Amino acid sequence: MAAQRHLQLVPRSDDAQQPAAVDAPEVTASAPRTRSGRAILKFDRVGFAYGSRTILDNVSFEVEQGEIVSLLGPSGCGKTTILNLIAGFLMPTGGFCLAGGREIVGPGPDRGVVFQSAALFDWMTVAENIAFSLRCAHKGRRERDAIAKEMGALVGLGDRLDAYPYELSGGMRQRVGLARVLAAKPTVMLMDEPFSALDVQTREALQEELLRIQQHTGATIVFITHSIDEAIFLGHRVFLASSLATGTFEEFTVALPQPRDDPENRLHPEFIRLREIIYRRMRNPGAPASRTGAP
Ligand SMILES: Nc1ncnc2c1ncn2[C@@H]1O[C@H](COP(=O)(O)OP(=O)(O)OP(=O)(O)O)[C@@H](O)[C@H]1O
Ligand SMILES: [Mg+2]
Repeated sequence: MAAQRHLQLVPRSDDAQQPAAVDAPEVTASAPRTRSGRAILKFDRVGFAYGSRTILDNVSFEVEQGEIVSLLGPSGCGKTTILNLIAGFLMPTGGFCLAGGREIVGPGPDRGVVFQSAALFDWMTVAENIAFSLRCAHKGRRERDAIAKEMGALVGLGDRLDAYPYELSGGMRQRVGLARVLAAKPTVMLMDEPFSALDVQTREALQEELLRIQQHTGATIVFITHSIDEAIFLGHRVFLASSLATGTFEEFTVALPQPRDDPENRLHPEFIRLREIIYRRMRNPGAPASRTGAP
């Protein structure tokens, strides 16, 4: 059964000097199988401001190892800011951001980012694009080729490794972007609306592929989207961020049947139920979640 609870929002404490220890949250009987019960990411009373403009204030959450968390919320509410803080591209102006129990002090190979547009190198083949991070890490040709082949096959591009980006469709380009991040074998994948520019069929196929890849790699994923359906289909939990500057942040647990990549899950009563609840919350954050009184 799906559960909904308010995200833990810890009152700001000005004397908090040290990052709190990463506690292992309890895994309930209904928790999806891929969740490990060990927090890999932790935001502890995080604040962020651009000058005098507060974007995040007092935001606390944890993401477990092997978990997929979908992040939904209106445009401009601070979703990408959260991703940039996890990636280490931005530093918090309050609180602590932890990855693997350590304070995040900058970008690292443990955290890979997949952007909305794959931004491939046009003069490199698919294989060279996939292996780019390995070249930067001074890995040898043989190892680069082997990993490009493995990751290319994983995203369904095993027969297009010698193609150039201009020869690919939008969906294929996003697959290359995904394989490029996978090649670095990150423990955390940060995905910022990676499928939003794709047609519905390609988008759904990639969602299913991502779930299979996640099962295979065990990666932890934070996935930003504007689509409620995408958030529910992919997520073990959905975070609904209305206004992160005022700490309005809700969490929904998704308890869909395994295997999670089954397209039939899109028609499952639990999927429909959650979609209604989240839709009402997004349209009118102050209103009851459902006409029927759920959850
Ligand atoms: N470099 C910047 N300087 C000043 N303000 C910024 C900067 N980048 C983002 N902002 C502001 O921070 C707020 C949060 O931006 P963010 O990109 O995190 O939103 P978002 O939730 O990802 O939105 P969207 O769904 O449109 O991508 C926005 O109000 C935006 O205008
Ligand atoms: Mg954004």
